[in-house]
Amino acid sequence: MTESRGTVLSGTELFMQPDEIIVTKTDLSGKITYGNRTFFKFARYAEKDCVGVQHNIVRHPEMPRTVFKAAWDSIKDGREIFAYVNNRSKNGDAYWVLAHMTPSRDSGGQIVGYHSNRRAPNQQIIKQTIIPLYDHLQKIEKASSSPKDGLANAYADLQKTLATKKQTFNEFTLSLGG
Ligand SMILES: Cc1cc2nc3c(=O)[nH]c(=O)nc-3n(C[C@H](O)[C@H](O)[C@H](O)COP(=O)(O)O)c2cc1C
Repeated sequence: MTESRGTVLSGTELFMQPDEIIVTKTDLSGKITYGNRTFFKFARYAEKDCVGVQHNIVRHPEMPRTVFKAAWDSIKDGREIFAYVNNRSKNGDAYWVLAHMTPSRDSGGQIVGYHSNRRAPNQQIIKQTIIPLYDHLQKIEKASSSPKDGLANAYADLQKTLATKKQTFNEFTLSLGG
């Protein structure tokens, strides 16, 4: 067991299988309204402990806030986002996913909640590209005098990296190949 930002981590990593999909839905504020069986299996929570609770219940302490800002900015604006996300199970285990998050609309086109499905990511991409990038972003977040400045600086750094690559966040994520 180790501790990271006040959160206990077991050091055990769980791996999604290629035929598994983790699905959750939330309300507009990010509270979980639905999870499939695979979500509860990986998160190691009972359904009753998750429904009605903020989705950061599975937040991993080593995930940069910048990625969640990019996700929320997109889905609130009605746009899908693809992102690699590290999650933390109830007992401190961790599992990487490739998430696809979308807004859910009613028949009048109004956004009424959000949806995310996740598949097994390519572990080589996680190790070679995503962990170094996310560590870099989190370092910038922590190096600033306030959390607000840290997020702004890391977000600007990510935008600069994407501009250099001439890619959007989704293009970058999907160009890595799964
Ligand atoms: C549909 C949907 C699915 C989400 N799935 C996850 C998830 O699997 N893991 C996660 O850490 N955050 C997820 N989030 C983002 C959380 O709401 C939250 O922004 C994030 O955990 C950061 O939490 P914090 O603001 O407390 O740092 C999801 C949000 C939505 C709307």
